[in-house]
Amino acid sequence: MNSSNNIVSYYSIRELALRNGQDMDEIWIACDGKIYDISNSRFWRNGRHYIDHWAGQDLTEEIKLAPHSADVFRKFKIVGILKT
Ligand code: HEM
Repeated sequence: MNSSNNIVSYYSIRELALRNGQDMDEIWIACDGKIYDISNSRFWRNGRHYIDHWAGQDLTEEIKLAPHSADVFRKFKIVGILKT
């Protein structure tokens, strides 16, 4: 999402899947319809979070099992909206 000109980018689940920190350097996660760029997070190096959480996916359901809320995304930029 680009607030300077109000152009919103939409990405498919396939486009999101490439940004998993392995196929491409970018590390993106979708949550509640929004896509966040978490490339500079030290908790998501190479797209992996703790033992078994992987970027490049819609993790809306998975975060419900985490010891934290979706507030952890607040410092990350929204790069787009997940196409439904
Ligand atoms: C059992 C599963 C999980 C555990 C044990 C876990 C644990 C943690 C811990 C300890 C932190 C750092 C402390 C904090 O900022 O509160 C953290 C940060 C974070 N987690 Fe998780 N988490 C889990 C699942 C998830 C899932 C499924 C997502 C994605 C939807 C997620 C996204 C994040 C993000 C974006 C951060 C912030 C990273 C940063 O600030 O650089 N976590 N997590």
